[in-house]
Amino acid sequence: MRYLTFALAKGRLAKQTMELLESAGFTCEEMKEKSRKLVFVNEEQKLKFFLAKASDVPTYVEYGVADIGVVGKDTLLEEKRNLYEVLNVGFGACKMAVAGPPEMKKKLDQGVPLRVATKYPNIAMDYFYNKKHQTVEIVKLNGSVELAPIVGLSEVIVDIVETGKTLKENGLVVLEDITPISARMVINRVSMKIEHERIKYLIDQIREQLLKGEGFNDTYY
Ligand code: PRP
Repeated sequence: MRYLTFALAKGRLAKQTMELLESAGFTCEEMKEKSRKLVFVNEEQKLKFFLAKASDVPTYVEYGVADIGVVGKDTLLEEKRNLYEVLNVGFGACKMAVAGPPEMKKKLDQGVPLRVATKYPNIAMDYFYNKKHQTVEIVKLNGSVELAPIVGLSEVIVDIVETGKTLKENGLVVLEDITPISARMVINRVSMKIEHERIKYLIDQIREQLLKGEGFNDTYY
């Protein structure tokens, strides 16, 4: 039997994913020990786990190096890889939004050309160009995006808002909601065919756990 391989986003997301998998009967003892290893195996269950940077998870899955990935919807929307999205696992819930100083609301509504700073240029482009039909200049940043409107690099930002604390403490507000975000399970298109039974069983077991959980709502599919 070949390994069923998972690409996980290292950090909190991987930890939450392993907890969910364990509750569904899929484990990896090796992964519980603190180490800097990136590949872990459960020989008995023929499971393999990679720890990758979140934004690279869709790439590992699209190329078939991993059969399954668990990563945020923000990453999936930004990376635009050709994958099956099969399950909303619910954790990492937050939203993608346009934010900025409160006085920018009027300019946004008027459709004035604005500069938008973001870690997510594809999401920002898709929102402003395809959904709002509004011309903007997009500036790609790699983090601490809230800094941009404070120091005058951009008028607004497109970014993740979880508790809203970062915005609040920097005098910024949500101006427009773009989309809700949470972690999703994705499957390689070929693996879905050649490992259909094992993957279907896995999805069913996980779905059962999610249904038992408190956070269940209609967005699980
Ligand atoms: C994310 C996001 C916001 C912040 C939102 O940043 O980009 O800056 O969290 O969280 P909050 O609404 O709970 O304050 P992250 O911590 O991933 O770091 P980054 O600055 O590198 O993007």
